[in-house]
Amino acid sequence: MPIIHLQKPVSDIERAEHCFKGECLIYKNISAMHELIEYADKLLRESLNGIDPVDAQLHFSPEAFLQRTGNVQAHFRKSETVKELFFKVLEECGVDLNNTYYDHFPMRIVPFDTDYDGAECGVIGHHRDSWGSNIHSQINWWAPLYALEENRTIALYPDYWDKPIANTTATWSHKDYLEKRNEADAERQGCYPSAPTLKASVDESNLLKVMLEPGDVLSFSSAHLHASVPNTTKATRYSVEMRSINKHDLESGRAAPNVDNAATTPMYQWFKHILSKEKLKL
Ligand SMILES: [Fe+2]
Repeated sequence: MPIIHLQKPVSDIERAEHCFKGECLIYKNISAMHELIEYADKLLRESLNGIDPVDAQLHFSPEAFLQRTGNVQAHFRKSETVKELFFKVLEECGVDLNNTYYDHFPMRIVPFDTDYDGAECGVIGHHRDSWGSNIHSQINWWAPLYALEENRTIALYPDYWDKPIANTTATWSHKDYLEKRNEADAERQGCYPSAPTLKASVDESNLLKVMLEPGDVLSFSSAHLHASVPNTTKATRYSVEMRSINKHDLESGRAAPNVDNAATTPMYQWFKHILSKEKLKL
């Protein structure tokens, strides 16, 4: 699977053509991404007593680290400012905001120890984002906030672009997930997975650990199998991510092939128009 490094923006159609045949795009040195990194770094340092966020784990107990970084993640979830900064990033990559819908914008943290796992904290297992949404015109955006290493990044599995892998898309339901989450008491939380999961093991022999510099931005089809690389380094991974849908891709059927998704209901309502904030409907 080629990774294409871009020094200039690409049109929505060009991006769709690359992504929906399994290629990945890395947009180099995006100035709005540097702005976003500066903003995030300031928030993190304020919350971590001025300590460098990548090794702050060494200075706090796991609980204190999770609480302090969790406050920043909560800010990210709610803040319109950080979303606006990322919309500028998308624009700089060539995205026409008039035709684009998005879902949400979490800051994801992968600590270098396994004592820290949680919803937005810890390694994310193998999945295709299209398994949950059942929308194959969907594109993933991902960007690091600090320097990466091979054992502290995201991995894609190009062999599975056109090869199915057993999963729970036939039985998983978002409605059931929400119901179970609402019913669950503290001990039972997490019983029902928040997205479809694997039912087979992945051949790890041909994984692609994607390397980007801070300021670079990655886009790839949401139908790509991907996962966090377990962080065996001595620094915490901080990254941001978003998923987008271009309405012309959706209307004209420009999409990745569906190799193993047995779900039938597209979750259009998860997406909002970037400018008008109206929910996506087909
Ligand atoms: Fe994902």
